[in-house]
Amino acid sequence: MEKSRNETVEKIVSLAKRRGFVFQSSEIYGGLNGCWDYGPLGVELLRNIKEEWWKAMTYRDDVEGLDAAILMHPRVWEASGHVENFTDPMIDCKQCKARFRLDTLAELISDKNKEKALKEFDAVEGETLDDKFTALLEKQETAQKLLEIVNCPQCGNKGTFTQPRKFNLMFKTFLGPVEDSNNVIYLRPETAQGIYVNFLNVANASRQKLPFGIAQIGKAFRNEINTKNFLFRTREFEQMEMQYFVKPGTDKEFYDYWKEIRIQWFKSLGMTPSKLRFHDHPADKLAHYAKEATDIEYEFPFGWGEIEGIHNRTDYDLSRHQQYSGKSQQYYDDASKEKYIPYIIETSAGASRSFMAFLIDAYYEEEVKGETRNVLRFHPKLAPIKAAILPLVNKDGMPEIARKIETELRPYFKIFYDDKGAIGRRYRRMDEAGTPYCITVDTQTLEDNTVTVRERDSMEQERISIDKLVVYLQEKLR
Ligand code: GAP
Repeated sequence: MEKSRNETVEKIVSLAKRRGFVFQSSEIYGGLNGCWDYGPLGVELLRNIKEEWWKAMTYRDDVEGLDAAILMHPRVWEASGHVENFTDPMIDCKQCKARFRLDTLAELISDKNKEKALKEFDAVEGETLDDKFTALLEKQETAQKLLEIVNCPQCGNKGTFTQPRKFNLMFKTFLGPVEDSNNVIYLRPETAQGIYVNFLNVANASRQKLPFGIAQIGKAFRNEINTKNFLFRTREFEQMEMQYFVKPGTDKEFYDYWKEIRIQWFKSLGMTPSKLRFHDHPADKLAHYAKEATDIEYEFPFGWGEIEGIHNRTDYDLSRHQQYSGKSQQYYDDASKEKYIPYIIETSAGASRSFMAFLIDAYYEEEVKGETRNVLRFHPKLAPIKAAILPLVNKDGMPEIARKIETELRPYFKIFYDDKGAIGRRYRRMDEAGTPYCITVDTQTLEDNTVTVRERDSMEQERISIDKLVVYLQEKLR
């Protein structure tokens, strides 16, 4: 089971490279771990995901957009708690220098090794081997002993681990030419803080009244110890975050409201509903700033994984910024004539991680007339190329008509022109790129100015008059 699941991710990675969705960063130099480049089709898909999110989240009267700088005043990250708390416990192997996150060590060590180590301890709580192993790692005394007796998964040596240390995940750099500790700044690990520190600017400039939200899409950086699963956990990624400011006491109502809106968004763009679920955080596992939290999870081939987090962050963030900046972050409520610090409901989606989920969800292998057809069934709104224009043969005036159609459609849609190879092969290439419509100029076109439009999923064809094509495609993409 596990093998075939991994194979699916491998197939997607290989298709992603072959068709120009995603390349390894700096590949000719051997790649850079945890960083990926989006190729010609990938950049379109990613832009479409972000565009749909932007429209859904800001084309409404209670949400404003923002694009804050990646570099922020270093005090921001003290106020947010990132300098102190944004850490992962990690251990190093003294022999081979490999570094591991303590909380994921159980996944990497063989069952045999785990069983052997567990024999050295009296009754350990937990149902599975991994639960027991993790329980031992969570307590300082038992962790120390355990790390002395297990083998390092990389080099196989025993007792070579260092004791756990806190590793801050923020990338540091220097502002200005002098590289000393007074000039340290960070690449933002989330876009949210740019929104919090602009709350009053946006409220005043837009004259919005509570409840209202601020939305932002942008890059975030985390020096993850273990990057894994393609785009799932990377060191540079994009977030699509919206912070909704509400009057305290109304927070529960808006938390529930945004949960529903956000899961619907993924479904409305064609993600398989049975592969989406909420994972509500139990009270004892909540982040220090959260009153309630849930993850929207997608069932990846390697298991369920978070694609978006929704948090009731209370007044934590604005109170902290008030405290650290010395500037009041209170909001004056005209209606009740009160001043207070709003509560925040956060919806935080990964653009890159959603990209991966949409890509995997769209991937199908089918048998068609004895051949395997690879098809990416993207929702037409997300598809990188909206339509391909294909002259059936390269003669009889067909290429000229096809080129004319191309010129007419280009201002409206991302179009691909292809006159190379048999028509069946050209359809397959477009199926694999996820192109929802193929427009073919054939003999009948010469007689009546109609073309066939082939729909990717059903492979059914209908005849459409050339002068109706723009409207036809616009309707389909609405
Ligand atoms: N402002 C809240 C926040 O940043 P998070 O759960 O750490 O919360 C939100 O991140 C989303 O960002 C995640 O659901 C995921 O989609 C994406 N994300 C986080 N870390 C990531 C990483 N290393 N690589 C790719 N995406 C990541």
